[in-house]
Amino acid sequence: MSDAFKPEKLSVARSFGQSALHYDDVAVLQRETGDELLDRLSLVKLSPKRILDLGAGTGRNLVQLAKRYPDAEVIGLDIAPTMLHQAQAAYHDSQGLKRWLPRQKKPSLVAGDAEQLPLADNSIDLVFANLALQWCELAASFTEIERVLRPDGLLMFTTLGPDTLCELREAWASVDDYPHVNVFYDMHDVAEAMMHARLAEPVLDMDRYVLTYQDAMAMMRDLKILGASNVAQGRRRGMTGKKAIERVIAGYEHFREQGVLPASYEVIFGHAWAGVPAAQMKQDDGSIHVPLTELTGLKQ
Ligand SMILES: C[S@@+](CC[C@H](N)C(=O)[O-])C[C@H]1O[C@@H](n2cnc3c(N)ncnc32)[C@H](O)[C@@H]1O
Repeated sequence: MSDAFKPEKLSVARSFGQSALHYDDVAVLQRETGDELLDRLSLVKLSPKRILDLGAGTGRNLVQLAKRYPDAEVIGLDIAPTMLHQAQAAYHDSQGLKRWLPRQKKPSLVAGDAEQLPLADNSIDLVFANLALQWCELAASFTEIERVLRPDGLLMFTTLGPDTLCELREAWASVDDYPHVNVFYDMHDVAEAMMHARLAEPVLDMDRYVLTYQDAMAMMRDLKILGASNVAQGRRRGMTGKKAIERVIAGYEHFREQGVLPASYEVIFGHAWAGVPAAQMKQDDGSIHVPLTELTGLKQ
């Protein structure tokens, strides 16, 4: 079995595949961070010829990117083919009657893995990845992104930091010792993986988003619909007992404030350019130097 199809990767693909139909109904955070990332992108002067929406999901950003850069070829790549069907439908809807015009541009939709991109070297001008990289091995994904980017190509992404769903993690900790919430990389890990991949001028910052719910079950249901269920290795396999769920719900109640339950998300925003010269990266002792001035919002 190749690395791309290790069981946990299959779980990610299956989990998102099952969620594709109802994903947009609950993807509140994804919409917010996607819009913020698009806003940030509008500050960069760029005329990309080819754009990759990595982990494109149901295609909301793909549609926006195609609108913003009408001359560009847009590629939507996702590990879950069902997500790509939704993305195709979203693109069709966004085009209205225009889609019947001859020579209308259509995005290319590709089923693939961020860690082994089925794309040529130096072929992409902009990689846009909203809340997808937290499901991937970062070093492999950044290396692949750097490989496919043209020398002055740009990567813009968001990913989740370790405080994400801290309330749920704590509620589960009172029940058993299994990991029930995915473990996310912190900003230092993200920076290091970017530097190792030779991505240039990395800039990272962090923002906290809090969604609120009437009850813990509603929050867990949304996570399930989002396909964001726990796919960590070492997770407890099989059904979770009713008693355990009741204890989690009770544990979560400790976080209730002003009548609602919070679900916190630590969102890391990042961008970098392709093609940093090796000499700029390596120190004499072989370590990788990340200038602090390049990183903002780091927790000390
Ligand atoms: C939370 S969704 C975000 C979707 C979209 N970017 C958005 O903003 O709504 C994460 C997406 O990443 C995809 N994904 C997860 N692991 C992946 C991988 N290794 N390679 C490519 N896509 C992946 C999932 O299938 C899912 O569609």
